[in-house]
Amino acid sequence: MRIYKAKDYKDLSRKAANIISAQVILKPNSVLGLATGSSPIGTYAQLIEWYNKGDLDFKDIKTVNLDEYRGLGIESNQSYVYFMHHNFFNSINIKACNINIPNGLNPDAKAECERYDEVIKSLGGIDMQLLGIGRNGHIGFNEPGSDFEKNTHCVDLTQSTIEANKRFFNSIDEVPKQAYTMGIKSIMQARKILLIASGDDKADAIYNSFFGPVTPQVPASVLQLHQDVILVADDKALAKVPKELLERYL
Ligand code: GLP
Repeated sequence: MRIYKAKDYKDLSRKAANIISAQVILKPNSVLGLATGSSPIGTYAQLIEWYNKGDLDFKDIKTVNLDEYRGLGIESNQSYVYFMHHNFFNSINIKACNINIPNGLNPDAKAECERYDEVIKSLGGIDMQLLGIGRNGHIGFNEPGSDFEKNTHCVDLTQSTIEANKRFFNSIDEVPKQAYTMGIKSIMQARKILLIASGDDKADAIYNSFFGPVTPQVPASVLQLHQDVILVADDKALAKVPKELLERYL
């Protein structure tokens, strides 16, 4: 693992966008695994800025998103498909046929999960997977206790995740209770992983995930077993990591 320490959210977003840009430039037909949440918004904004300057080209890039709320589609402005178009895809030259997101509107969970695994397989796997992290150490929607061996599956969201995500909805009752998510196994099969974390509410999750025991109780801790992980985190998110320990990874 390598850690890139950022001053703040803006710096983090620029550093993460630089790493993704390198991937896009070195392999213009990369398969990028993408994430939602507030963490990657600045990264997407930075990539859009460089695209507008003519420094990046997404015409052969393919994407697979991590997750989607079950029951929501593009007409819902809380869906992840809406988020991705609004925050990224509408502003770059990616082809619509190269965008892949679990279909929250497919009522057949088994069929949807199988379809999505097949999509990832048919693309030849993920070159670089971008991840945020939940306060309880979840990645995608793989909540504490998740089986490390799962591919795409349908999950019941925990109360803490519903609480954390209610800020995006009018009321907590509107937050879906289930989601489709790539599993830990799908994430671990990505060739490179880039995890971003900002703010003091992520400090425990970062410490436990990267410096605590590898356990399903902290889903992101499995990343310690991946051979190519980059963590870009700001000072606040790294606040619980002792300095001597941190320096080994910088
Ligand atoms: C949601 C998403 C995750 C994301 C997490 C953290 O639960 N499914 O992919 O990492 O929220 O979100 P934020 O970046 O807003 O803190």
